[in-house]
Amino acid sequence: MKSENGTALPEWQGLEHSDNRLPLPVVLQNLEARKTMLQDAFTQADYAINITDPAGRLLRVNHAYLKLYKYDSEDEVLGQTQKIIRSPLTPDSLYKDMWQTISTGHSWRGDLINRARDGSDVHIHLTISPIRRENEIVGYMGFSLDRAQQVMLERQLLHANKLMVLGTLGAGLAHELNNPLASILLDAEYLKEILSHPVNPTDQKPALEAAESVIQGVERMRRVLKHLLQYSKKDLPTEATSISIKELAEDSFLFLERQLVNRGIQLDLQIPEDLWVKGIRTQLESILHNLITNTRDAFANREEEGKYILISGKRNERGLVEILFEDNAGGISPENMEKIFDPFFTTKDGQMGTGLGLSISRKIVADHGGTIQCESKNSRTRFTILLPGSNRPDFR
Ligand SMILES: Nc1ncnc2c1ncn2[C@@H]1O[C@H](COP(=O)(O)OP(=O)(O)O)[C@@H](O)[C@H]1O
Ligand SMILES: [Mg+2]
Repeated sequence: MKSENGTALPEWQGLEHSDNRLPLPVVLQNLEARKTMLQDAFTQADYAINITDPAGRLLRVNHAYLKLYKYDSEDEVLGQTQKIIRSPLTPDSLYKDMWQTISTGHSWRGDLINRARDGSDVHIHLTISPIRRENEIVGYMGFSLDRAQQVMLERQLLHANKLMVLGTLGAGLAHELNNPLASILLDAEYLKEILSHPVNPTDQKPALEAAESVIQGVERMRRVLKHLLQYSKKDLPTEATSISIKELAEDSFLFLERQLVNRGIQLDLQIPEDLWVKGIRTQLESILHNLITNTRDAFANREEEGKYILISGKRNERGLVEILFEDNAGGISPENMEKIFDPFFTTKDGQMGTGLGLSISRKIVADHGGTIQCESKNSRTRFTILLPGSNRPDFR
């Protein structure tokens, strides 16, 4: 073997190299430079990257990973399994699914919550892929994208939605209080008249009925106000409670009942007592609230007889809680049907619609591990909400 200038090279210097024939020290130097470059790219990448062995023990992590989980050096995490960053907020089923996918040689991606060293929540979008050598999985590589910004925006959106619902609750409040107030006033005037002269025994029964109606009116107003206060309380997004679907539906009607009844719309609730889900109450209530106001709006300017809203609930064959919401307010055209869950899609004029109700509802349902679908025919519309069920809590 000869070098370019014709002098003989030692055997090892003539090693083949993909680019051209270079002396080994140069090849090695290039290799070294490539390795350093890869190393630098790995260490300095904006994505948090981790490499594990097949058992999931950490072999390498980069700076972004340490920063994301608030560790000072690689030594603190190497050799540990991913358990050190696992959060109880991510369900076991997700890890099971992830492990099943990657251990059979596929990539997995999804959103989850981990826990930083100081105990704070870390929301990430994770992509994890097997690393293979000759058909054998020798480890896994994970890329985590920090979702903090996105999660913050989502929370702001939910908060804005809550304020929007509160606004319409406020508008409904006048309707809901005016009616009982008017009848309380009538009853009180009637009682005053009876008591202004010696009470006749025949007056006793109607007087008692009037007093009873005052009590009922006041109680209803108290319920409405209590609910308004409950709804305006700050709720923590991670704090789910057990919620009775029957109660949820009754509460979501509290502020709208009068408006519906005044328009001749029949309300029919067919929900058993023992139907429960786990979730964030105000969020779930805002879904029903939006469905009811959508129906109310769809009925505007319609004069037909037999207007109704039916909400029914049951546990389906798969053990899921199924809530059906049905109305006969004219239906939705196939063309609009494709768009109703899109953000900002509305058929309402001006201030009447934001087009956000159904898109936010879909997000809320998905956050609760469920689905929402819509079908419409013969002027009827039906929304089907499926949510994971929960057992009735022992105490509340
Ligand atoms: N029950 C219904 N009957 C007829 N149309 C409906 C019904 N529910 C929703 N829609 C249609 O879906 C659109 C989007 O609803 P939504 O996302 O709540 O936004 P918004 O109520 O602000 O318009 C409505 O503008 C309406 O056209
Ligand atoms: Mg709406």
